[in-house]
Parts: sequence; C-alpha cells; structure tokens
Amino acid sequence: MNPIYFDHAATTPMSQAAIQVYIDAVNSGPGNPSSLHQHGRAARARVTAARDRLADLLGCAASELVFTGSGTESDNAALYGAVLSQRLKGRTGIVTTAIEHHAVLNTCKQLEAQGFKLTILPVDDLGQVAVSDAEAAIDDSTAIVSIMAGNNEMGTLQPIAQIGELARKYKALMHVDAVQAFGYMSLQMRELPIDLLSISAHKLNGPQGIGLLYVRKGILPLEPLIIGGSQERKRRAGTENVGAIAAFAKAAEDAIVEREMRYQHVLQLRNLMIEQLTARIGADAFRINGNPDNSLPHILNISFMGIPAESMLMNLDIEGIAASGGSACTSGSLQPSHVLAAMKLSPEIIVSAVRFSFGLGNTIEEVEKATQIIATIWARLRYK
Ligand SMILES: Cc1ncc(COP(=O)(O)O)c(C=O)c1O
Repeated sequence: MNPIYFDHAATTPMSQAAIQVYIDAVNSGPGNPSSLHQHGRAARARVTAARDRLADLLGCAASELVFTGSGTESDNAALYGAVLSQRLKGRTGIVTTAIEHHAVLNTCKQLEAQGFKLTILPVDDLGQVAVSDAEAAIDDSTAIVSIMAGNNEMGTLQPIAQIGELARKYKALMHVDAVQAFGYMSLQMRELPIDLLSISAHKLNGPQGIGLLYVRKGILPLEPLIIGGSQERKRRAGTENVGAIAAFAKAAEDAIVEREMRYQHVLQLRNLMIEQLTARIGADAFRINGNPDNSLPHILNISFMGIPAESMLMNLDIEGIAASGGSACTSGSLQPSHVLAAMKLSPEIIVSAVRFSFGLGNTIEEVEKATQIIATIWARLRYK
C-alpha cells in the first residue's frame, strides 16, 4: 500500500512548482544578494521579486516584510524585538494564551523570567479564548499581545481581529502567529489590527527553514534578534536563503490563488473522515477535540476512547499511515498536550488524542482506506 500522509500540520511536501523555482534559483550560479556585481544583483532581484509577491498576497508594503529562518524565529523575533523597544516606554506586560505554540509560549515564559509581566489567558473546552478575558488583561502597561490565528493541534480559530482592536485601544502591539492559518484564512494586513505576523513556508508546500515576519510600518524600531550585517533593513542579519525565499513566494502564491479550492478539498476530507469513523466504529467510540464550527479546515483532533495515542499511532505507522499526537515539536517524545490540558479535557481524552491533518495530495480514497484501517486497529486494541 502507498503510504498515507495525514500530518500536514507538522510539515507539507514541497510542491513541484516550488521545487522548480528552488532549483532554478540555486542552479543559476553563486550570488549573494549583498554583492554589487552582476551575480549579487541577480540574487537580489530574486529576493526582491519574492518579497514583492508576498507583500501583494498579504496586502502590505514589501518593506514591512522580514525573511527569517522559520516560523519559530519569526515568533521569537516578534516578541523579543517588540518588548525590548516597548520596555523603553515603560510597557512591560505580555498577554498571550495557554494554547500557543511553544515558539510563543516558551519565549513569553523566558521574557517573564527576565522581568516582564506575563498573563496567560485561559481557553474554554473548545479551545477558544474569550475576548472579555483579553479585555480584562490588556491595559496601558501592556507591551504586546500575542494570539495565534488558528491552533496547530486542534484547529480552533481565535478572535484575533477583536483582540487586536483591544490592543490598539491601549496602544499595545498585536502579534499573531499565523503559521497554520496562512493559506486557509484571508489575511490582509491593511484591513486587520495586527502589527506583527508570523508565517512559515513549510506549512504551505514551500521549503523548510524559511519564515516570514510582517512588521507594520512605523510601529517601533524592532530590535533584531540576530545581529550582524545590515540585511533585511537591519532587522535580521545573515545572508538570505535565496532559493528558499523564491520557492516560498511561489508556494504562497499558489496557496492563495487556489485558497478556496484547497480549503474545500481538505474540509471535505475532514468531514468524510468523521462521517466514516461514525459509520465504522460508532459516534461513542471517539471524540472530536476543538471547535468543529470554528476551525482551520485541515486539522482533525480525535480521541479514540480507551486507546492510548501511542498505540494508535504506532499501529497506524505500521499500516503506512502517518498522523501525529500532540504538536510536531513535542511528538518525538509524546508528552501530554499542553493545548488539550488547557482545554481542561479529562486525562483519558488527552492521552488518547491523535491529530490527523490533511493537505493538497490527499484523496477521498485515502480517507476511506485509512478509516477502514483505523476501525480494524480500534477493534483490536479496544479489548486489550
Ligand atoms: C502555530 C505554529 N507556530 C509556529 C510553528 C513553528 O514553525 P517552524 O516549524 O517553521 O519553526 C509551528 C510549527 O508547527 C506552528 O504550528
């Protein structure tokens, strides 16, 4: 059987179009975008074209975009860069949520250890942050509010626009981790009260190890996280990854141009999986975690009651089906998910949670095949 890959929230396969752009860039000879000769100018032209295209897709100015080495770096750079400047204005509050990716959560905790005042907002049992909780936490001393657009483990969307308005009211900065949402949500920076936005190419069929940080013009001098040369308008030093940047822009362009089609495709697969599991093992045998009515379309987090996630994942892997438990970054060692724990789900639900995440190459036949296999595994494991 061909392997079935249902782990697109961890990473996606690079599209052929992005691979071609990457190959063209790296095949075109040496070229450091900072060099003034023709080789350097050619490399610079590729970076400029990619930045222009991404700016177009995000509805912002090219000068507002900083290329980074990952979504994690974008999150770190946004938080560190902003709070260091904000502290000079006497603002030391950081407001975030309990379900952020560790790239945000652990950075915030480290800043707390350095003297910033951290407020971690709770979520309800569907994984939703309450605007009223954000309102109670944000005030004149808040430096930055960091809320993810859509969660990577169970998909729930957050009220980023409403919370962004609150941040604006108190002149705090608003950072959004859109690593999972970009490509599925419309994110037009001119229309949204967002000052900083993190994106990562490998979640949308682009290369790994290339990220983007949107920095609204005029908000403040963002202190660079990486110090060195004057690349990226002194906001991120280091020679640009020209091939990855060019391929990122191509992957993002295709994701946005085909957004509606891709959205419907993964949503159909997600719904089909729920439907087929209900038919094959019964609705009582599993539980969907997250908010089914307000979710990213490609993520489905399911607890198979009474079956530890490790056992399910191992058996799926033997059958050639790749899924995930918890988030990718912690899945090397399956620790209980901090996201599901924040939703105050029972330990039984948390230890049995498996994440399926769909993407471009997946098919209806794969979902049918996978649910058939899951039903067999489920029947085998449930009486153990
Ligand atoms: C919501 C979210 N933020 C940040 C990241 C980190 O991105 P990267 O893998 O590019 O470092 C991830 C990756 O899983 C993510 O899902």
